Amino acid sequence: PRTIYLARHGESTHNEMGRIGGDANLSENGRLFGSVLAKYIKDQNIPKLRVWTSWLKRTIQTAEGIEAPQERWKALNEIDAGICEEMTYAEIKRHFPEDFAARDQNKFSYRYPRGESYEDLVARLEPVIMELERQGNVLLIAHQAVLRCLLAYFLDKPSDELPYIEVPLHTVIKLTPVAYGCKEEYVPLHV
Ligand code: F6P
Repeated sequence: PRTIYLARHGESTHNEMGRIGGDANLSENGRLFGSVLAKYIKDQNIPKLRVWTSWLKRTIQTAEGIEAPQERWKALNEIDAGICEEMTYAEIKRHFPEDFAARDQNKFSYRYPRGESYEDLVARLEPVIMELERQGNVLLIAHQAVLRCLLAYFLDKPSDELPYIEVPLHTVIKLTPVAYGCKEEYVPLHV
C-alpha cells in the first residue's frame, strides 16, 4: 500500500510576521525544517518516492535537500488572497472590516476580492487529486489552505469543517489507504 506524505513548507519570513500569501523565502527556522525533513525522508527509505511542490519559493526551498525526483505544480500554490495578499489579519480587519466579518461567517464560500475562496481552491485542485490517485508514494509540500482541501478530500470531511482543519507547520501528515478511506498520522519534526 502506498503512502501520501503531506507537509507545509518550512516557516517563511511572512509566517514570522503573520503576513498571508506572497512569495517569501524561508526563515532560518524554516530552512532548518527543510534539512530535518530531508533526513526524515531519507531514513524512511520510501520506495520510488516522488516529491511535488507548488511554484512558490518556500515549498521549493523546503524540498531542496530531498533526494527524489521532483515536480512543480502551479495548482498547488496557496489560496490567492487578492486585495489582502501580504497583509496581516489585523491589517485586513482594519482596512476591510466587512470582508473580515464575511469570511468569518462563511469561510468556505467567501472569495477574497480579486482572489479565491476555499471553494475555488477545491476546483483548482481537482487535477492534482486525479493524478495523486494514480501515483505511488508521494511527498507533497504545499500550503495551509491547499493541504486543508486535500485532507478534506482524503478524509471525507464536510466543507464547513474544511477551512478549520489543523495543519501545523513542521509536521508531516501520513495518509495511508485502509479498507474504507484513509488512516492519518501526524509526525511533528523537531527543528
Ligand atoms: O498564513 C499562512 C497561510 O498559508 C496564508 O498564506 C493563507 O492565506 C492562510 O494561511 C490560509 O489560512 P486561513 O484560510 O485560515 O486564513
